[in-house]
Amino acid sequence: MIKIGVLKETAPENRVSVLPAQVGSFVKQKAEVWVEENAGELAFSSDEQYREQGAKIVSRTEILAQADILLSINPPKKDELQNLKPEQLLIGVLQPLSNLDLVSYLVENKISSFSMDSIPRITRAQDKDILSSMATVTGYKAVLDAAMHLPQFFPMFMTAAGTIKPAKVLVLGAGVAGLQAIATARRLGAQVEAFDVRSEVKEQVESLGAKFVMIEGAKEDKTAGGYAVEQTEEYKQKQQALVQLKASQANVVITTAQIPGRKAPILITSDTVQKMKAGSVIVDLAASSGGNCELSENDKIVQKFGVTIIGKTDYPTSMPLDASQMYGRNVYNFIKLMIDKDGNINLDWNDEIINQTCITHKGEIMNERVKSLFNNTLEKKS
Ligand code: NAI
Repeated sequence: MIKIGVLKETAPENRVSVLPAQVGSFVKQKAEVWVEENAGELAFSSDEQYREQGAKIVSRTEILAQADILLSINPPKKDELQNLKPEQLLIGVLQPLSNLDLVSYLVENKISSFSMDSIPRITRAQDKDILSSMATVTGYKAVLDAAMHLPQFFPMFMTAAGTIKPAKVLVLGAGVAGLQAIATARRLGAQVEAFDVRSEVKEQVESLGAKFVMIEGAKEDKTAGGYAVEQTEEYKQKQQALVQLKASQANVVITTAQIPGRKAPILITSDTVQKMKAGSVIVDLAASSGGNCELSENDKIVQKFGVTIIGKTDYPTSMPLDASQMYGRNVYNFIKLMIDKDGNINLDWNDEIINQTCITHKGEIMNERVKSLFNNTLEKKS
């Protein structure tokens, strides 16, 4: 019977890769679930609850030495991985494209690793897509955070003290996080406008009760897997002018625009911030990849020209129960692909989900994008 080991995360992470309620699903796949002591503590799940569902509580050392599959959201420290055997599989969020040092270590030590943020964005992989799950948490929490920092109400109120107008929210980028932000802001009663370079999202934006801001002439590439592509200078200027106008009328701006593997595009310049209303709030969800706002600071909340700019990146860990539940379901659906009917690990390298999610195996880089970035970086160094 294979052993699935759930490692405890280190601070500031509150999530855990498997909750007690999910242990039973693994047991049905004929797997044993080994959970590190207190692994679920910060996600409000006790060792006792794991035991009741059939898990075994063990030490970290035992998991590292004996688990066939090691689950950890954030990668464990390098020296802990040193003694892993090639047949042990490490599954986590390794962010290989921005963590080439770790990739190099995994190759040198012949560690088999899979990164949940490399799951391909294809229909069959939707139930394994942790990026979507965490973007859902992020979009929702970003709006709540904005509401907490805004010195005004979100909904319209008609009171004896007069009428209060609803807040105006502008959402830039209508991917998974953006759509969730729109839905959450609408539920709170705000008037919402949204913009994306991909015109195909217009219908989705409108179905959530928001207005789609249209800018003609966007470059779209149907072969980019649904992702945005770099835009022309002319388009960027048109976009900047319209975004500036819309931002100056808004009370809250939530930015989510990212282009995979590149620095996030600047959509809110310093000049635009100066034109915004005093007391308004920007939540920059792209802060960790350079930011969509020129003045945002990664992981910080700053005040510039009377505008509060939030560049936090820890929304998933701030909602550990549901974020862990979504992560756990995604990882379970992924692991199911690896276990055959007799309960043994059987990796089908012809399956593009296995193939693209695998980062390193037997001393080789398996994921094509990681491999080409790694080789390019090596070339530049030499
Ligand atoms: P993301 O986090 O990569 O980007 C967020 C949004 O920002 C995207 O909608 C993008 O078009 C937009 N954007 C980029 N540059 C911009 C700019 N300069 N101005 C305005 N907006 C800009 O996006 P996410 O949420 O990861 O989704 C990307 C795509 O993947 C979508 O088409 C989505 O439907 C698709 N997807 C597919 C899945 C599947 O089939 N398994 C699962 C999740 C997403």
